[in-house]
Amino acid sequence: MNDKVCPWWLGYLLASPIRTLAQNPEKILRPYIKVGDTTLDVGSAMGFFTLPMARLVGERGRVVCVDLQEKMINGLRRRASRGGLMDRMDLRVCTPASLNIDDLAGTIDFALAFAVVHEVPDAKRFLSEIYVSLNKGGVLLFSEPTGHVTEETFGETLSIASSIGFRIAEKPGIRRSHSALLVKE
Ligand SMILES: C[S@@+](CC[C@H](N)C(=O)[O-])C[C@H]1O[C@@H](n2cnc3c(N)ncnc32)[C@H](O)[C@@H]1O
Repeated sequence: MNDKVCPWWLGYLLASPIRTLAQNPEKILRPYIKVGDTTLDVGSAMGFFTLPMARLVGERGRVVCVDLQEKMINGLRRRASRGGLMDRMDLRVCTPASLNIDDLAGTIDFALAFAVVHEVPDAKRFLSEIYVSLNKGGVLLFSEPTGHVTEETFGETLSIASSIGFRIAEKPGIRRSHSALLVKE
């Protein structure tokens, strides 16, 4: 694992309700998710965004969660079980070389990559795998923390996303983040 990857124990802090004061997951996600959607949370950690996603898609929807660290996925499983949301969750541990989502090709309505791309060794490969998983018209909300990523680096990653085929549809204002809504056309 590379040294940019956030340690597993930070998963508890990232999932803290106090974070909601700066980043309210329901408010951030609600414009992009419909009941019944099939969604993907890449770099989910212990589920700060994943559990609200699971509530927004409802009983007929699905949330696939992928993380590099088994301890993050185990923490997410415990929290989803306590919230009675496991019926719509698909939890996966990936490797640095593959997100383990080949079976999802063309099926995802909404994907989230929040505060994760700056930790991955190859942003182009990572974003390409998400691109393949999306259906036509599917969207990726891509967000990076201003504390770790400069405006310039975020712009460079957006250029990579465009080279893959994503269109930048919107730049949502999310506190402490650089954010873009990317569409697969
Ligand atoms: C800073 S945390 C953000 C977690 C979550 N998205 C949030 O905003 O609360 C980054 C997460 O991405 C995961 N991660 C890092 N590299 C990854 C990769 N190559 N593939 C999938 N997940 C990765 C880490 O294990 C960690 O759980």
